[in-house]
Amino acid sequence: MITEGLKGRHFLRLQDFSKLEIESMLELGLQLKADNTMRRLHDDLLPRRTLFMMFFNPSLRTRNSFEAGIFQLGGHAHFLEPSATRLPTLEGEDLGYASERISDVSRVLSRMGDALSIRILGDVVDWEYDKAFRIIQEFANNSKVPVINMEDNIYHPCQGMADAMALWELFGKDLKGRKIGVSWTWGSSPKKPIAPHHDFMYVASLFGADVVFARPPEMRIDPEIEAQVKSNAEVNGGSFQVVENMEDACENADVVYAKNYVCLDLLPPVTSEPQKDEMMKLFDNYKGWIADEKRMNLAKPTAQYMHCLPCERGAEVSDAVLDGPWGEACYNEAENRLHAQKGVMAAIIP
Ligand code: CP
Repeated sequence: MITEGLKGRHFLRLQDFSKLEIESMLELGLQLKADNTMRRLHDDLLPRRTLFMMFFNPSLRTRNSFEAGIFQLGGHAHFLEPSATRLPTLEGEDLGYASERISDVSRVLSRMGDALSIRILGDVVDWEYDKAFRIIQEFANNSKVPVINMEDNIYHPCQGMADAMALWELFGKDLKGRKIGVSWTWGSSPKKPIAPHHDFMYVASLFGADVVFARPPEMRIDPEIEAQVKSNAEVNGGSFQVVENMEDACENADVVYAKNYVCLDLLPPVTSEPQKDEMMKLFDNYKGWIADEKRMNLAKPTAQYMHCLPCERGAEVSDAVLDGPWGEACYNEAENRLHAQKGVMAAIIP
């Protein structure tokens, strides 16, 4: 199996893996999911391995799926409470005894455990766009064991794996000819991450879907990721189109993925500090952007709604969509965090 060659690799972003490698981790995850349903145990895959988990931001799905997942593989997750550790810092940011250099934290933890995982984004890094990923890379550069990215400002690769698994379960591995409508929606907070949109479109295009992405003109995604999505679509037999109204994304879609995210142009490095009031004023120009029954009725009769969760009901999506027949894939997507990450952990943790 190709996953044998992945032992010891860091899992920082999907872009670091070939399509074949991503497929093989997903296939392993799906096998583990099927076996889990049959109560077939796999606690011999990572016996007594320790995963250190550092969360600088809150989490329901990520924390619990990793904790349950490593336990089911025979290991143990160790949750590091940020307020109970010294602040891990990059060179030049030391705070005396209140902080500890990331290079030291990583070297120490990687001598005690078998993998490290980190979530850091948003306010914790003052919304400095690439800083959170640089921090995760610094952990990886100083670690003897695999480092897993549990979300930064740019990437949420574990979410992308679960999204891909949910899409495979709906349509099979080949998404050619499937229209995946993706959209920005209104939201009541200027703090919702953009990384899930990036990685959702990355995997949908990787498996050949026709991605139609709706957003107000000011709500661009990272141009580098957009170029990767375009390139994925070209190479894998799909297409990528950007439109400026939700209806075009929803019309005849097999899946509608719609959620709110921040405006990159109102955050560093474009501005000196986060312009949160400006962002809310901008959002309010597009208050009608919601995944509701009217828009879902434009999609195919079998269409499903997807969102990485947590969602803001009544703002990003209506209750009728989430609680009706359209919403099932959303909860499969959440459940698949467990199975997809088990595939990743079993593949990379020695
Ligand atoms: N989707 C996701 O990452 O959820 P949590 O923030 O609850 O971990």
